[in-house]
Amino acid sequence: MATSAKAAAPKAAAPKKAAAPAAKKTAAPAANTGKGAGTNPAVDIQPILNQQNHAPAPTQKYGTVSQRLPIGLDESTRRESVTMLNQLLADTITLRDMYKKHHWQVVGPTFYQLHLLYDKHYEEQATLVDTIAERIQILGGVAVAMAHDVAELTSLPRIPRDREEAPIQVSRLLSAHQTILKNCHDYAKKADESGDDGTNDLIVSDLMRTNEFQVWFVSEHVVDSPLTRAE
Ligand SMILES: [Fe+2]
Repeated sequence: MATSAKAAAPKAAAPKKAAAPAAKKTAAPAANTGKGAGTNPAVDIQPILNQQNHAPAPTQKYGTVSQRLPIGLDESTRRESVTMLNQLLADTITLRDMYKKHHWQVVGPTFYQLHLLYDKHYEEQATLVDTIAERIQILGGVAVAMAHDVAELTSLPRIPRDREEAPIQVSRLLSAHQTILKNCHDYAKKADESGDDGTNDLIVSDLMRTNEFQVWFVSEHVVDSPLTRAE
């Protein structure tokens, strides 16, 4: 580009600044092919678009487990852990999104505190999602990610699009937490038996603790307790 800028500059002595716009004017518009966009073949400023239309084989197929990272675990252990973690991932993504739905749609006299609490739990579940997904990648698996795949995999029942009363929201959340926690107990034992201590620790220290804590905070909203005078 520097050479074309010089060529475009007028012969008479002119301020160097004037050469820059002239160079822009003389640069021919390049077709969006990703090839030959400039005079220097080594420099190509055009993005190469729509490469997915001619995609080669994927880097790694979903459901497979590679042994790329030397983390001291055999293939069968990795495979079992990845399967369990993808189930927990799909359920956690679903619960995370359920919290955001309820954050938006909550109604009634407890609106303010539930609106804030739901969003706090959403953020905590989002952190868990990332932790689980990255553990799957470390184990050599492929983390489930997109909504349509999550919808197929999750063990949580589909909930209606409708706006619902706060006690119904809370009950749905508690049921989802319970399903995830039951799976956590089952999977933590299996990870312990197979020797995958990292996965066992993630399930107990991160998933179980967070879900149990959230169950406590949400459950107290559906206790029928007098507000102004003790009965
Ligand atoms: Fe919000």
